[in-house]
Amino acid sequence: MNLAILGLFLAHLRTCLADFDTIIERGQVENATLKVTALVMSLDVSNGTATAITTRVKEELGLSSISRIETQYEQEVIGNVQLSCWVIKACLGEDIVKDGSLLAEIEINWSQSCWQTPGCFISPRNAADVSKTIKILTFFGTPFAIRSGGHSPNPGWASIDEGGVLIDLGNLNSIKLSSDSKVASIGPGSHWGAVYNFLDPFGVTVVGGRIPQVGVGGLLLGGGLSHFSSQFGLAADNVKNYEVVLSDGSIIGANAQENSDLFWALKGGGPNFGIVTRFDLYTVPIDKIWYSAIVYSSSDVPQLLSAFVRWQNEGSLDTKSSVIFQIGLDVCSVGLVYSEPANLPLAFAPFYNITPLAVPISPTNGSISSLSDILGGAFTQVLERHDYRAASSLIDLEPYTQVEAQWRKQAAAIQTQTGANTTFTLQHISKDVVSQGLQKGGNALGLSPVLQQWWTTVIDWQNEDQDDAVRDSMISVTDTWKELGTARGSYLENIFMNDASRDQNPLFGYGPSNLARLRSIALKYDPSKVFQVLQNDGFLLSKA
Ligand SMILES: Cc1cc2nc3c(=O)[nH]c(=O)nc-3n(C[C@H](O)[C@H](O)[C@H](O)COP(=O)(O)OP(=O)(O)OC[C@H]3O[C@@H](n4cnc5c(N)ncnc54)[C@H](O)[C@@H]3O)c2cc1C
Ligand SMILES: *[C@@H]1O[C@H](CO)[C@@H](O)[C@H](O)[C@H]1NC(C)=O
Ligand SMILES: *[C@@H]1O[C@H](CO)[C@@H](O)[C@H](O)[C@H]1NC(C)=O
Ligand SMILES: *[C@@H]1O[C@H](CO)[C@@H](O)[C@H](O)[C@H]1NC(C)=O
Ligand SMILES: *[C@@H]1O[C@H](CO)[C@@H](O)[C@H](O)[C@H]1NC(C)=O
Ligand SMILES: *[C@@H]1O[C@H](CO)[C@@H](O)[C@H](O)[C@H]1NC(C)=O
Repeated sequence: MNLAILGLFLAHLRTCLADFDTIIERGQVENATLKVTALVMSLDVSNGTATAITTRVKEELGLSSISRIETQYEQEVIGNVQLSCWVIKACLGEDIVKDGSLLAEIEINWSQSCWQTPGCFISPRNAADVSKTIKILTFFGTPFAIRSGGHSPNPGWASIDEGGVLIDLGNLNSIKLSSDSKVASIGPGSHWGAVYNFLDPFGVTVVGGRIPQVGVGGLLLGGGLSHFSSQFGLAADNVKNYEVVLSDGSIIGANAQENSDLFWALKGGGPNFGIVTRFDLYTVPIDKIWYSAIVYSSSDVPQLLSAFVRWQNEGSLDTKSSVIFQIGLDVCSVGLVYSEPANLPLAFAPFYNITPLAVPISPTNGSISSLSDILGGAFTQVLERHDYRAASSLIDLEPYTQVEAQWRKQAAAIQTQTGANTTFTLQHISKDVVSQGLQKGGNALGLSPVLQQWWTTVIDWQNEDQDDAVRDSMISVTDTWKELGTARGSYLENIFMNDASRDQNPLFGYGPSNLARLRSIALKYDPSKVFQVLQNDGFLLSKA
């Protein structure tokens, strides 16, 4: 081969390689353009807006990164926060997207430990807005958090910093009742107080939260415990249909007939599958109820604990009865609730002969919203930091007593040290709660059909620098539950999601087969794992 021929050959090779480069680039350009075009077309915006979005996206990102984004965010979150906010604003309108730092909103996040300033704050008006929002966030690989009532005290669950955007569902707060009064359709951004106020005049109600300020969305996705759960199951057991926005933006129904695997998963499976934009709940025929609230001295706690256990074992067989049992350092408060008008129901007999300090609410036949208002008033309205923790066990007086003593020691010490207030609450779960769930198609919680209690402690404090001390003190109480309960064979692995703190793992407690089923359903409805990777935090399957 002479030099001239070699020269020609090299020149030819360069041309081929150049062509090859061009082909790759052209492919990428085409792909990127197609992707932007597909996104923009799916957003249903005017031509002017479409052009503006396309131009800005191409300018800011460059085409080659666009063609890589979708595959990349599965490994690492990309960000593009301000670009996402800008596109969502262009698409949904100025009033729907606000600068996170300019917000002077009313108190929304219940716990100050969740107050974070997001890159922007998006308030969709309807499911279509949610669909466009999630498409855009997915396209750009932008982290997000979803908030309904904002009552989770776990930082990052329904809050996010400037590295992402907050989707606030507060505007999705409509409440409607079907003409036959059988189904109430409720937006996730409603609060239980508003729900009961709306339904009471119709003489029906729904199985929902007990405190009026709590949000509909989070409570239902965590299962939801109600005064009426012994009679009708968990709140989620009474969902007829979910309207859900999936990560690809499609808006689907999940019910016993349609997407029934997702229907099952959403009953307790948390924020792992999509954004729920409407819950259609079966109503229950409860109108007026009987209730009373009684305050006892803390020196009567041993007697009250045995009365509670007696009610758990005997009185609770009357599934119309439920008891709110809350111990504080100074007093023990007991709420007795019966799901129809009554005259001192027999079920509560164990409590009647303990002398109260006071009877703030004497026996009343009243509406559900009147009870909900009373209970709401019992919670501190001071803006401060909160946490809760959960543990479950069989009904077993001895650990109740021992754990209460350990809790009291910790609660007194942490109060002296930080001023924090805490409560010790036992929540009764009858076999009927479990069987009602099964009868209504089953839920994701995997509960054993045994009498049990779900314990929770709530702690309120003021200063960030006390966060660790406060949490450590309550963690040691749940550790004691586990130790004592395990030793007596009464500890249960299931932890109620709605009372669980961020280091707890409620999904794990659903058991290996339910967990595997939840994972495969999540993969089916969210194949690109948007809710595991781009969602800021939460009780996520990827961490369970
Ligand atoms: C004072 C008080 C009383 C309570 N009483 C009860 C009670 O009686 N029964 C009971 O079961 N629980 C009760 N809880 C617990 C309560 O259910 C949880 O805190 C629940 O998470 C609150 O729901 P939210 O919509 O206000 O929460 P948020 O903080 O808005 O959301 C909680 C979680 O759900 C996710 N999420 C919310 N909405 C959606 C949605 N539409 N789609 C997808 N993901 C979503 C969020 O991202 C977050 O991870 C109580 C809590 C408090 C603070
Ligand atoms: C274009 O997109 C298709 C489908 O996503 C992909 O298989 C192909 O590799 C892409 N081409 C380039 C050059 O990026
Ligand atoms: C918008 O774009 C479409 C498709 O390119 C075109 O058919 C339509 O006429 C345009 N509308 C306006 C108002 O420019
Ligand atoms: C609630 O949280 C959002 C962001 O998560 C924040 O912008 C807002 O200021 C918070 N509310 C209050 C009253 O601080
Ligand atoms: C509540 O209603 C029941 C049944 O109608 C009745 O016996 C009882 O006296 C009422 N109680 C009160 C406090 O009004
Ligand atoms: C604790 O409770 C007392 C009495 O209700 C109240 O004055 C105080 O502000 C509370 N402290 C906190 C941190 O909530």
